[in-house]
Amino acid sequence: MELKIALLPGDGIGPEIVGEAVKVLNSVAAKYGHTFNYTKALVGACAIDATGDPYPEETHAVCQASDVVLFGAIGDPKYDNNPTAKVRPEQGLLRMRKSLGLFANLRPLAVFDSLAERSPLKTEIVKGADFLCVRELTGGMYFGRPQGRSEDGNTAYDTCVYTREEVERILKLAFEQAQKRRKQLTVVDKANVIATSRLWRQIAKEMAPQYPDVTVEFMFVDNAAMQIIQRPTHFDVIVTENLFGDILTDESSVISGSLGMLPSASVGAEVALFEPIHGSYPQAAGKNIANPMATILSAAMMLEHVGLDKEGKAIRDAVNKAIEAGVVTEDLADAGAKVYSTTEVGDYVAAAI
Ligand code: IPM
Ligand code: MG
Repeated sequence: MELKIALLPGDGIGPEIVGEAVKVLNSVAAKYGHTFNYTKALVGACAIDATGDPYPEETHAVCQASDVVLFGAIGDPKYDNNPTAKVRPEQGLLRMRKSLGLFANLRPLAVFDSLAERSPLKTEIVKGADFLCVRELTGGMYFGRPQGRSEDGNTAYDTCVYTREEVERILKLAFEQAQKRRKQLTVVDKANVIATSRLWRQIAKEMAPQYPDVTVEFMFVDNAAMQIIQRPTHFDVIVTENLFGDILTDESSVISGSLGMLPSASVGAEVALFEPIHGSYPQAAGKNIANPMATILSAAMMLEHVGLDKEGKAIRDAVNKAIEAGVVTEDLADAGAKVYSTTEVGDYVAAAI
């Protein structure tokens, strides 16, 4: 297969982890006889530095001309610590999601048996946890307008908006994912307080009869935050709005033992985007210490998305092999065990393919 891949390494550790994923992809291409063509483009703080825009027009054009996008991370402390900055790297990510029509973010969580003990939660609680969070990605408070400050600067406001169309399309996708899995859907909302949540709940109830094989439950987000770490094995598919999904998926990463292990796919329109769920980890940038697994696993999701299932599985198997052999970065290494660098982990996975 010939695949056009846009590479958007972004900021912080982004270039290092995307570099390792490319190494692994090249190994897959060589083994299975595929041609992967990469085109690099800028997004985030590095794009602001180069062009003044966190998601330049050229980058959008590169994404649109590609079959899939592999994205690293964005963000830079110089913006985080400056609440008055007019242009922010995160705006690039949000614009990219919106303009590519990526309304659904699929964040699977599975506990690797050999890592279950790395989780700060008790092993018997996390063992066997395997769920998918379907996060709405282009609506809610992230995009609702008005957003801003009063003239005197002493009042700030955000708006949370969802339309029926936006809710229906994400719920449809979540119901379908549940049908492919264990057929249990948890709709997470705050319908006891928030109007948009009541719309979500109403529409989910209207749609449920179309999916008679799927069991639907409703859970308030505060309760869900507790249940996810108290009994993670309860969940199969969780669907929720943008901000709740952002928070619950970082929380969920604790179950797996490291935020550095969790991949994601953003889908919706033609082009799909794949990225680790973690951020740009600026403290580790350039040090060759970041865990590249989440990006490597995102590359596996990317291949599966275009129908290359056995190639995706080959990557997953190689990642398992590395973990079992203890070839892991510092976030996952046992006390006293050898700590491997980002590039060593990538080399091992690539060779294992
Ligand atoms: C994520 C990130 C982003 C988000 C930030 C970087 C804007 O936290 O992908 O989860 O909030 O969506
Ligand atoms: Mg987040």
